[in-house]
Amino acid sequence: MRALRISLATLLIALFFAHAISAAEENSERRAASYVPRLADLMVVIQIRHAKLFYAAKARNWPAADYELEQLVASLVEAGRYYPNTAPPITPEKIRSALSEAIKTKNEVKFDQAFDEMNAGCNRCHVAADRAFIVIRRPSYPSAFSNQQYGPRPIDRQK
Ligand code: HEC
Repeated sequence: MRALRISLATLLIALFFAHAISAAEENSERRAASYVPRLADLMVVIQIRHAKLFYAAKARNWPAADYELEQLVASLVEAGRYYPNTAPPITPEKIRSALSEAIKTKNEVKFDQAFDEMNAGCNRCHVAADRAFIVIRRPSYPSAFSNQQYGPRPIDRQK
């Protein structure tokens, strides 16, 4: 009888914790679903990735460039999802294919060309959205983001 009472108590405690954990998970999911970043905030994130992509490509760290490109495209897709009324004169897919091709073939000339085309697309949208004063171009050194090393790690340099 005593053993039964103890195991019943253990079961109740386990059920209580299982419920508390699932309530916490539900809460954090709800919070994530209700957070909508402002378009300007997404754009600043895009700007950071835009610069990092360029620096990584200039340092010929192609895996890092590829990573930043994927991040940049994901942020552009997110901007389109949350703000579908913002005219899209460039599609993220187009940006991805041109730059990704240049990155895969480690072709700096093609990269520069695709990068400039992307910038023209950024700026066309800014003009269309009555934000012509936001002009995107190639970043130049010294970097505003010098808190990250853009060249390959020394251990990867010999590869
Ligand atoms: C679909 C249209 C569209 C595209 C494409 C677009 N932007 Fe924007 N961008 C906007 C709009 C609209 C704003 C102004 C947001 C506001 O004022 O709330 C903006 C604002 C900005 C800002 C200013 C943010 C700030 O707070 O200082 C930067 C920087 C920026 N964009 C960078 C870029 C870059 C880089 C690209 C290309 C990779 C790009 N944008 C592509 C629509 C676009």
